[in-house]
Amino acid sequence: MTITKAVIPVAGMGTRFLPATLSVSKVMIPILDRPSIHYAIEELHQAGITEIIFIISPDQKSIKDYFQPRPDIEALLKNRGELELLKTIQAIQNLVHINFVTQESPLGLGHAILQSKPLIKDETFVVLLPDDLIFGNESTTSEMIKIFYKTPGIILAAKEVPDEMVSKLGIIDPLDVNNNQIKVKSVIEKPELQNAPSNLGIVGRYVLPKEIFSKLESIQPGALGEIQLTDAIDSLMNEMSCIAYQFTSDHFDIGTPLGLVKASVYQSLIREPINTDLEIWLKSIPQLKENS
Ligand code: G1P
Repeated sequence: MTITKAVIPVAGMGTRFLPATLSVSKVMIPILDRPSIHYAIEELHQAGITEIIFIISPDQKSIKDYFQPRPDIEALLKNRGELELLKTIQAIQNLVHINFVTQESPLGLGHAILQSKPLIKDETFVVLLPDDLIFGNESTTSEMIKIFYKTPGIILAAKEVPDEMVSKLGIIDPLDVNNNQIKVKSVIEKPELQNAPSNLGIVGRYVLPKEIFSKLESIQPGALGEIQLTDAIDSLMNEMSCIAYQFTSDHFDIGTPLGLVKASVYQSLIREPINTDLEIWLKSIPQLKENS
C-alpha cells in the first residue's frame, strides 16, 4: 500500500495575525515570495503525496483562488520572458490534486481531521499542520512515510521543547529511544508542566492509519473543550504501535509573527541572488552592531 493522500487543516481564525487575517487566510501570508502553504505542499509532493485535502472554514476563499489556473498571468509572464516564474506558477496547479472540505464549526483539530473521512476512505494518510514549517534537503514527511513502510502503525514527528512550550503542545511519554526513533507509550494534549511525562513535543506531521476515524468519532472533548487528535491517537495506541520520529531538519513555528519572520529570513538566506544583499544589510543594521 502506498501513501498518497494528505490532510491540511486550515480552518483556524488566525487571530495572532490580525489585522492581516481580516482579509487573507493565515496560510496565505507570504514567506519571502510565496504563501507559507506553498512550502508545505512542496514537502508533501517530495514525499510522493498526490492528493491534498484542505479542511477550510465556510468563508475561506483566498486559499481556493491560489490553485485556480491563471491564463492571463501566464500569458503576461511568457511575453515578458519570465520563464522561471512562469514555471513556478504552473507547478502550483500541477504538483498535486487539491480538494476542499468545509468544517462548519470550529470544534477542534480532531474534528477537522474527521471531516476528511469520506475522501480518505480506507487508506493510511498524512496530516500536516501548516503552523509547523520544516525546511531541509529531505522532506520530513517522506522520512516518516519510510518509517511507516518498515513499521506500520502511527508515526508522529517530535522534538525536544523548552518548559514554557509543554502546556501548548501534545506531549509524548516515551517508552524506548532508538537513535531518532522513539517507541511511544502514550500521548497527552497540553499537559501542565508538572504533569508532563517529558519535554518531547508533537510537531505537526502525522502518518495515521484509517482506524483513527472511529476513535475521532467516539472520543469526548478534551483540552480546551475541543475534540483533540492527540486523544484519538492515544486511544488508538491500545491497538497498534506508535513511533515518534525526532527529525533533524530546521523547524519553524509560524503560528506566531516571530516564527514567521525567522522562517522568512531563513528562506531569504538560502535564496540566490537576494541572500548576498540581505547578509550585507543584516550586518549593517546599527542595533545589531551595538549588541555584538
Ligand atoms: C496542535 C496539536 C498538538 C501539537 C501542535 C503542533 O496544537 O493539537 O498536539 O503538538 O499542534 O504544532 P495547536 O497548535 O493546534 O494548539
